[in-house]
Amino acid sequence: MSEQSKGAQRDQAAALPNGGPIAPFVGQTDEAWIAVIQKMDETYAELVAQQVALEQKNAELEEVQTFIAGLMSSMTDVLIACDLAGRIEQVNLAAERAFQRPLSDLSRLHLRELLAADSPTSFEDIRIIIDRRERISDRELAFSTPAGGLPVSVNGAVRFDARGRPVGIVLVGRPIGELRKAYSDLASAHDRLKQAQQQLIHSEKMASLGRLVAGVAHELNNPISFVYGNAHTLQRYSDRLTAYLAAVHAGTPAPALATLRAELKIDTTLANIGGTLDGMLEGAERVRDIVADLRRFSSEQRQSADAFDVAPLVRSALDWVVKGQAPEIEAQIDIPDELAAIGHSGQIHQVMMNLVQNALDSMEGQPRRRLDIAGRATDGHIVLSLRDTGPGIAADIASRIFDPFFTTKPVGKGTGLGLSISYRIVQEHGGTLEAGNHPEGGAVMTLTLPSAQGG
Ligand SMILES: Nc1ncnc2c1ncn2[C@@H]1O[C@H](COP(=O)(O)OP(=O)(O)OP(=O)(O)O)[C@@H](O)[C@H]1O
Ligand SMILES: [Mg+2]
Repeated sequence: MSEQSKGAQRDQAAALPNGGPIAPFVGQTDEAWIAVIQKMDETYAELVAQQVALEQKNAELEEVQTFIAGLMSSMTDVLIACDLAGRIEQVNLAAERAFQRPLSDLSRLHLRELLAADSPTSFEDIRIIIDRRERISDRELAFSTPAGGLPVSVNGAVRFDARGRPVGIVLVGRPIGELRKAYSDLASAHDRLKQAQQQLIHSEKMASLGRLVAGVAHELNNPISFVYGNAHTLQRYSDRLTAYLAAVHAGTPAPALATLRAELKIDTTLANIGGTLDGMLEGAERVRDIVADLRRFSSEQRQSADAFDVAPLVRSALDWVVKGQAPEIEAQIDIPDELAAIGHSGQIHQVMMNLVQNALDSMEGQPRRRLDIAGRATDGHIVLSLRDTGPGIAADIASRIFDPFFTTKPVGKGTGLGLSISYRIVQEHGGTLEAGNHPEGGAVMTLTLPSAQGG
């Protein structure tokens, strides 16, 4: 209160009780009243301002409350807030749903009562952690619900008041059932994918095996029919010679013997017999070589990295693929005999067969089909290039052709594994495999491998 208004009150008190002469004080009394009214105005204004501030604070508080309530109810994880003694103070909607009880039920409970008897973590365990001011992390708690025990993976911490004193515990958890289900769904999806992949790899293996068998069968067919034909000829020769010898043993007179000799073409037979046998031998040797190739290039596991001649390997791969499927293709190999690489010849043979097969596929239906395979030595490496007269590799797929399962071929024709497997094999050998196009058309696949001759 100001000194001036105190003075006015004092004057008023002195003047009124004794009913003394009022007139001289009239002016002073008015002033006093005015001061009182002014004071009241001030107080009222203060009150109004306080009321406005209060309402504003209230609105802010409500906003925060709504925000927190929205946050809690939209949480999918279970949230439980209890005091330090373990009495539940607040839970969110997810907790009401998971425990199948309304908040009104839960908020009267002690956390201990909400836990199942066989909970892997007890309320006492939680207390110990909290007393140590540590965080609860990924602890499994089993809550009792009308539907039975509900395992929940829980994280938690102490809750502090505005002055930093511990006042309670906050637990946040996710029912493990859901996690387990998600994991098992993921695992079975992964399994299915692996199975599908295995099937594809298997069918790729079967397809290459089929191609290999077709090629080898075709290759074997030539020398075998050669041997077979010559065996027939030999049988004829043997019949003639047996008949002639029988006549000789029977003591047939010389003129008759001479006629028989001419009839049975004994002289021609004797002259041809060596050549026929040589032919058979050659055929048998070819069969032996093919079988040796088959052993060399197909029995992977037993093979170790070794020096091998490139030319015979390329020839065999080309023969097995081309002769079995499209013997009319023009194929040219230009590889020096002395060119030798280091590696698993069986695996490189597989790479070569894949590349030749791709070239063949790309040229299907083309009027001119030609495959050129050239080899040369560079510093420490050998370089092999395969050029075909197909349409080449389209720019929009060039970056994907080495991806596993990438194929432009119809279902059943290609699995898209040929180049990815080949790439991996070559990489493991310390070599490279690149795809490109020839300026005059057609694809060029370039393969480098470590040279057996060194750098
Ligand atoms: N010489 C080539 N000319 C044109 N395109 C090619 C050539 N080689 C490969 N490609 C393209 O690359 C794709 C992938 O080849 P890759 O060998 O990996 O699989 P694929 O031949 O389709 O099937 P798979 O080899 O498993 O039977 C082919 O589908 C084709 O589109
Ligand atoms: Mg292929």
